[in-house]
Amino acid sequence: MKKPTEHYTRTAQYLHWIMALIFIFVWLLGFYSGNFLSYEVNGSFKGDITSLHKNIATLIIFLVVIRIFWRYTNPIPTLPSTMSPMMKKMAHVGHLALYFMLLALPITGCLFSWSAGYPAPVLYLFNIPALIDKNPEILAVVKPLHIWLSWAAGLLIVGHFIAALKHHFIDKDNVLNSMTKQPK
Ligand code: HEM
Repeated sequence: MKKPTEHYTRTAQYLHWIMALIFIFVWLLGFYSGNFLSYEVNGSFKGDITSLHKNIATLIIFLVVIRIFWRYTNPIPTLPSTMSPMMKKMAHVGHLALYFMLLALPITGCLFSWSAGYPAPVLYLFNIPALIDKNPEILAVVKPLHIWLSWAAGLLIVGHFIAALKHHFIDKDNVLNSMTKQPK
């Protein structure tokens, strides 16, 4: 019988950590631009930071598709038997919510940009074809949606981070190692 795996595949690990870095970086850029910069005071610098936010954040759309495909076509480690069924359920719901955010944030971000009459650029190389035209009514919905989702995602990431540290340093189980190490 095939031994159940104790570690994510190398590809899953790389996808996890690269996306984590991109996500945190674009979150901080959006937070900085949205709350500390204004066109009146900072002029084109605000435009540059918002543009950097978009050019990096759109990468998430492509990476999340690869990641979801990889997630369902490769074995993943089971959660430790020391976890109660309730904790396992919460971990599962938390992971689903994180995947939801990885889809919902770039999608609402693109809708936000298009409905305001701007492009959704990728790595300063090309623009994602706009699915909608400039539209103030859609903007009035997707702008607050993007902002609220970004705050909910920030809370989820903090919870995810604390849970990973608790597994490693308090429960002393294999959960964090399964995302950082490979079998010897
Ligand atoms: C994982 C992806 C993304 C994350 C985590 C994210 C996060 C954020 C955050 C935290 C803010 C600031 C919210 C606030 O004002 O408090 C923001 C604003 C914004 N985001 Fe995103 N975002 C993502 C993707 C995108 C994409 C793909 C676009 C467009 C192509 C986009 C366009 C914008 C714009 C235009 C703003 C307003 C910036 C400003 O007012 O200066 N976002 N985002």
